[in-house]
Formats: sequence, C-alpha cells, structure tokens
Amino acid sequence: MTQDMYKIALLGLGTVGGGVYDILEKQKDEMAHKVGRNLEISKILVRNKAKYADKADVSKFVSNWEDIVNDESISIVVEVMGGIEPARTYIEEALKAGKHVVTANKDLMATEGHHLLEVAKENHCDLLFEAAVAGGIPIIRPMKQCLLGNEITEVMGIINGTTNFILTKMSEDGMEFVDALQLATDLGYAEADPTADIEGYDAGRKLAIMASIAFHTPVNFSHVYTEGISKISAKDILYAHELGSEIKLLGIAKNTETGIEVKVHPTIIPAKHPLASVKDAFNAVFVHGDAVDDAMFYGRGAGALPTGSAVVGDVLDIARDMQYNCAGRIGCGCYKELPIKELGDTESSFYIRMRLEDRAGTLAALAGVFGQYGVSISMLLQKDKNNESAEIVIVTYDVLEKQFEEAMKEITTMDMVKEICSVIRVHHA
Ligand code: NAP
Ligand code: HSE
Repeated sequence: MTQDMYKIALLGLGTVGGGVYDILEKQKDEMAHKVGRNLEISKILVRNKAKYADKADVSKFVSNWEDIVNDESISIVVEVMGGIEPARTYIEEALKAGKHVVTANKDLMATEGHHLLEVAKENHCDLLFEAAVAGGIPIIRPMKQCLLGNEITEVMGIINGTTNFILTKMSEDGMEFVDALQLATDLGYAEADPTADIEGYDAGRKLAIMASIAFHTPVNFSHVYTEGISKISAKDILYAHELGSEIKLLGIAKNTETGIEVKVHPTIIPAKHPLASVKDAFNAVFVHGDAVDDAMFYGRGAGALPTGSAVVGDVLDIARDMQYNCAGRIGCGCYKELPIKELGDTESSFYIRMRLEDRAGTLAALAGVFGQYGVSISMLLQKDKNNESAEIVIVTYDVLEKQFEEAMKEITTMDMVKEICSVIRVHHA
C-alpha cells in the first residue's frame, strides 16, 4: 500500500518521547524534502492523559495498545517507555503486525535484542535502535554501515554520562564520591535510584549492544563484567594525577585471538588519551578497525533532544526504506559465534593502594607473593607513613586476572598488610 503520509505511534511521552515529539513537530515541513514523504505522529500511548496534556496534542492520546497495533494506517512504532515489559511484547506484536519499530531501550536490546531482530527479519520489518547506545552520538549506524569493511578489534568508551559527571567533579574539584553523586542528583543527571549508572550496569548494557555489532557475535548483558565507581576516592584520583592520568568508567570490548572480552570498570587512563579529556556528562566511543585505524565519536549521551535526535534519525531512515520497499535491509549482523571469555582469562594491569606495616622486609615479602603468581611490578611508590604503617602504591604489568586474584587473596591474609585501600585497572595508551 502506498501512503502519502507515513503515520507514527509514540509509546511513552517522558524525557525521550517528549524530545521526539518536539523534533518531529519542528521538522514537519522539512520531511518531504528530506526523505520524500511527510510523516506525522498520529497516536501517543500514555497512561495518564492529564499528566502530559501540556506536552503534546491531547487528541492524539490513547491509553490502549490495541488502538495502535490494530490500526493499519500506522506503519512506524517508536518505543520510548523503557523497561522490559510491556515494551518487549509491544515491539514483538508491532513487528508481527508488519510495523517498523524504533526503540531507545538499551535494557531490552541488551537482553532480547537478538530475538527481536529475528522477529523483525521474519516479518520483513526494520527494528532500529541508534538511541540505545550513547544517546545522540551516532555509533550503531557507523559500525553497521560506514565501518562495515573493517575487522573491528576494539571498542572502548565513556558510555554513561552520570558517572562521567561524578568523576569529573571528583577530578576537577577534589570532591568525594558521595558529594559528587549528590550534586549529580541535584542537577538531574542521576536518577532517584542511581544504582544502574554508578554500578556500571547501564554502561554494561550499552557495551553488550556495541560488542555484538562490532564482532558479529551475540553478546548479552550477562556476558559483561561490571564494576562501578562507588569505591573510587578523591585520593585515588589525586594519585592518578601524579601518574599523569585520569580515572574514567570505561566500557571495553576486545576481539582477541582467544575470544571476546567485555568489561566495564573504573580505569586509570593516561591524560593524553583522547577519552581522558571527555568531561562532565559527555560520552565518547573509540573504535579500532584494521582499515580505518582509530576513530572516535563524541557528544551528548542523554537528554530529550540529543536522544530524540537519534530516534528521529532512525524514523527517517525507515521512511526512506519504506519508499524503496527495502525494509529489513540492515538487520542483525551476528553471523559468527565467537567465544566470550571469562573475566579470569582476560588480562589487565592493576593499580593497588595499600597500607603495610612499616618495617624491614615487608616490601620483599609482598614482591615475593606477587612473583609467585606471575604478577610483575612495573612501578612502586611509598606515599605517606605514620608510626605504624606506610601507604604503598603499586602498578603491575598486564597479568591474567585470575593470577592477580590469587595473589591478592594471599596478600590479604598477610599480617603485615593492614589494609587494601583500592584496586583499579590501568589502561596503557
Ligand atoms: P521516562 O522519562 O521515564 O519516560 C517514560 C515514558 O513512558 C513516560 O511517559 C511513562 O509514562 C511511559 N510509560 C512507561 N511505561 C508505560 C506503559 N506501560 N504504558 C504507557 N506508557 C508507559 O524515560 P526516558 O528517560 O524518556 O527513557 C525512555 C527510554 O529511552 C528508556 O528505554 C531509556 O533507557 C532510553 N534512553 C533514555 C535516555 C535519556 O536521556 N533519558 C537516553 C538514551 C536512552 P508515566 O509517566 O505514566 O510513567
Ligand atoms: N543514565 C544514562 C547516563 C543516560 O547517565 O548516561 C541514559 O542512557
């Protein structure tokens, strides 16, 4: 069926939904020029009509999903409700009804994405999700299209704005974590329950999505090792500065000869690395491909208009595909089943800050245990000391995580070790 006007249904009118509505309204006279067809939002699914009365045209509000899925005039469904259910059911039913879908839902795409992309393929529909990773930054489409001629070996990024804002405040203003988190909450960056951001789960979901696309292998959130930033102290940031570095929460995905590695953790990164200068709530993703070499994508990872920008870009792409009858052109790219490594089988370099008894032989004993487990020390500094103990900072060379863990288990039991204050992974540029 040829339509003069493509009709869109919006599911949810919160932060992102509001941004999508505003952008499409502002652009409505441009659509026909940009993609050759007019588009309009014809229905908006809301639970509480009064709550959203001043945000959009209330005559478009509906409260039943059936009013949308059974409406044959609607060809594109934009899911911006969030959460797993009912979003998963609505997306699946929309695809089965022959409707194309755009979603910003990283929680869903990081767990059910492969299944939903299969459903899209079976029904010859598009399922696009550019906004699910790094908000307004184009990263999914570049990896699926512009960089497709590469073998991508590494994707590394700052993909959570809340934690990057907190770490920036700790780095630039010397704030402690709890104070910086409070500021992030007061300014509306952190949600009422900030667990998913500060524990690295939000970044882990985005990393799983990017790793699947980069390495053509299904990677789910459950495969990703996640460690958050709540244990980072102002003192560690100070010491990182003394080492010429910053501490950032990085998502790191690597395609190695022995399998895929997917890890999210605070990382000491040299100040000269481009990711070290990404500040406040900004996001950035660094991609290494065999042909392109290094490429970096930078911008706003959240917010109504930046995220709405990515959603609307997907909607317009679908409008183009519809006109040329080529929907489903860019579906799931997972044609491999590469192994995904356990954390213990991956390598890292570590920074360890600890307090030791200040007496002859302690450093030798410590070095002995590290040596026994194959952990090689690249740097050792004695920081402050009082009558009883001295604070030591050690940086190791790359070592298998399981060997390091065994060494630390033994070191923790040594009488001379008063406290393990922090352990942070180090990225050498
Ligand atoms: P939000 O502000 O909480 O908005 C969610 C909207 O969906 C609200 O209007 C909510 O209505 C509605 N909704 C939820 N469940 C519903 C249901 N069962 N039926 C009808 N409406 C329902 O969330 P958001 O920040 O816009 O996020 C939306 C999605 O975008 C999430 O998947 C999120 O992860 C993703 N995302 C967000 C950002 C960002 O910057 N915020 C960036 C990237 C991706 P009520 O008011 O009735 O609850
Ligand atoms: N909570 C996310 C962040 C934004 O802080 O980056 C939504 O993806």
